[in-house]
Amino acid sequence: MDWGMKNRLSRIINPKSGHCVMLAVDHGYFGNVPGALKRFEDLNVLFEYADALMLTRGMLRNCVPAEVDKPIVLRVSAGASMLKELSNEEINVTIDDAIRLNVSAITCSIFIGGEYEKQSIMNLSKLVNWGQTYGIPVLAVTAVGREMVRDARYLGMASRMAAEMGATFVKTYYCEDFEEVTSICPAPVVIAGGRKIPERDALQMAKNAIDKGAVGVDMGRNIFQSDKPVGMIKAVREIVHNNASVDDAFEIYQNG
Ligand code: 5RP
Repeated sequence: MDWGMKNRLSRIINPKSGHCVMLAVDHGYFGNVPGALKRFEDLNVLFEYADALMLTRGMLRNCVPAEVDKPIVLRVSAGASMLKELSNEEINVTIDDAIRLNVSAITCSIFIGGEYEKQSIMNLSKLVNWGQTYGIPVLAVTAVGREMVRDARYLGMASRMAAEMGATFVKTYYCEDFEEVTSICPAPVVIAGGRKIPERDALQMAKNAIDKGAVGVDMGRNIFQSDKPVGMIKAVREIVHNNASVDDAFEIYQNG
């Protein structure tokens, strides 16, 4: 890995702990605008506890002050809304604009088993080629189609394919036997949180993921839809970076 790529990646994945907590707030790109995202500025209080922010360029330019010193993982893909075929996605941001925005990584989704699977793999390949040219890490998001089963066989296959395409790091969902996903994926793996679940369950999921080989989380709804979002992101941090127990982390969440 060349110096620039390594330097950018070390802003996201902490070289001391080897772990990371990314805050995912890119949901609106396909028309999914959960409550908290309607007033994006309410999320600003969470930024200081995140190692990196994952979002789209529109929200970055409009809603994140340029003075915020947080590495950005920029979603550079778009396409059909949630009302249509989500896998019909293309790359919509040029590498020039990503560099202008001083991003630390770029990202798109791959839809393994989806209708536009091949297109999404070529999207990822395009990002990897840009990343190699300009020293920018690429996060591959393994998006799950409605009819896909989120098990280790499928998520492992999708994660491995992302790594084979050259993704620098991979985001996938947590599942039973998660060590089977991380063990066949040579690139670092982070988990998405998925739909909102009770806080203790989300913390347990983060704990299990780290124990089973994930380097961290790229979590959205289970943080910003919590009744105590600041407490929740602090609690997730304690698990991811400091190996806290779920009980201790839950107390941090409760204390807000
Ligand atoms: C969608 C994404 C989202 O960032 C991701 O799913 C968000 O996180 P969460 O599931 O934790 O709300 O990449 O394709």
